[in-house]
Amino acid sequence: MTETFDTTRQPPQVKGFPILGNILDLAKDPGKFFYHCYRQYGPVFSIKVLNKSYKVLAGPEAAKFMGSGDGKIKLRSREFWEGLINEYQTKYLLGAEDGEIHKKLRNVMKNGFSKKALDGKYDQFIETTDNMLEKDWLPGNSVPVVAGMQRLVTAQLGWLLTGRVPLDYVEDIRITIQNILNVLVTRQRPKILLKMPAYKKAFKRVTELGNLMVEDYYANKGKKSQSEKTLVDAIMEEHERNSDLIPKSDLVLLMTGPYVAGLDTVANTVASMIYLVLKHPKVYQQIQNEVDGIFSKSGPFEESSLKQMPTLFGAIMESMRLYPVAAASMRVANTNFEYENCHIQEGELLYMGITVPHHMEEFFPQPTKFDVHRYSRERAEHMQPGAYSPFGRGPHTCLGKTLADTQMMLSMARLFYRLDLQLDPINYEIKVKTAPTPGPARSFKVRVNGYRN
Ligand code: HEM
Repeated sequence: MTETFDTTRQPPQVKGFPILGNILDLAKDPGKFFYHCYRQYGPVFSIKVLNKSYKVLAGPEAAKFMGSGDGKIKLRSREFWEGLINEYQTKYLLGAEDGEIHKKLRNVMKNGFSKKALDGKYDQFIETTDNMLEKDWLPGNSVPVVAGMQRLVTAQLGWLLTGRVPLDYVEDIRITIQNILNVLVTRQRPKILLKMPAYKKAFKRVTELGNLMVEDYYANKGKKSQSEKTLVDAIMEEHERNSDLIPKSDLVLLMTGPYVAGLDTVANTVASMIYLVLKHPKVYQQIQNEVDGIFSKSGPFEESSLKQMPTLFGAIMESMRLYPVAAASMRVANTNFEYENCHIQEGELLYMGITVPHHMEEFFPQPTKFDVHRYSRERAEHMQPGAYSPFGRGPHTCLGKTLADTQMMLSMARLFYRLDLQLDPINYEIKVKTAPTPGPARSFKVRVNGYRN
């Protein structure tokens, strides 16, 4: 029997300007915009961006729906990624697939993208981090934080994937990601940008990097022990076993994908965190005490030490709550369905405003306050259903989540252990950018007063 729907049940339309619609609010601060709309209009509302209409499903209702079996059936992703798929001429893209293919692809990549990738390599990871801090964060200098963190993250991911630090490619990776996300994924910028020589050159260089990674794999094939293998080996071995799932056409994007997924997300989150910590001297002092306690011990770094830095952990969690890198995820309705008394039509474009609860006092009392103790076992405010979703929800939840958590903990632990920092100027107030990934403006700087250790 076919289900019938009352298609006249439409969500409220958010007020906006003629032609522009709600684009200005959306471009300024999508997280705040969705939060205010949720308060005024409820858990589902319509917005206009130029002449296109989108429904927004927001709040804890949306977070719970997205993470449920129902959400898995009723939402799909492909359309939002089509621009990127066409640009790279790939068959599949992890973010765009759903169902069996998506499950299989995640399975191939899950270990390489998880914190398991760091097993037995913590000391080398710390060495790579320290080398970058010694290169870019010199005493007496004023350091642009987002750019500095992008170089650090590129070095860490490159070392982890290939054993090499591709610093020559940082700018190319940055330009490519910026254009891909702005033009092809979030569609906040015109397509003409992809015809510009700067993008074309960067794209060519990133493709060259991907091809070099493939060549490297063949050159070293059979020489690595199981524990030395990385995400690159997992992808290439599957390509050789099953070229239907991983065809040659998909290799370059798969090789460089970790940079696309991990560079801006980690760099922006830790940049927000550095700002918040330096703004709160008591928290800064507590973190220094914690990291000094860990690194003053002799012997190799042990994974269990990550659990002994609760203030540092709370500061990272608060940064992702207050400044999430994805204020909303984009989806398409996979079928006709009723949602909160409104009709959703198959094929409609949807914004899932699942970080709206991050700003709700019902979940996080005094929500604008930077409070690193919210995540303690006693309070665990983030554990309430639907409350906290910095890594997304449902089948596409961040595959690099555990790796990112560990990477951020270790990087920030080393930064605060090694360096004495202050905001520059000392009374600096954060300015945020939203494109391509929300985070502190590139003008945000800190001064390195000197080495602590
Ligand atoms: C602070 C750090 C990070 C944050 C906040 C973050 C956030 C997210 C979010 C919100 C999604 C879901 C997007 C959606 O639903 O459409 C996602 C997906 C993903 N992330 Fe992350 N991410 C981070 C770091 C990383 C890192 C370091 C990697 C790997 C190197 C990574 C790999 C991925 C992958 C592969 C996916 C796609 C999963 C899928 O479609 O099945 N992420 N991330």
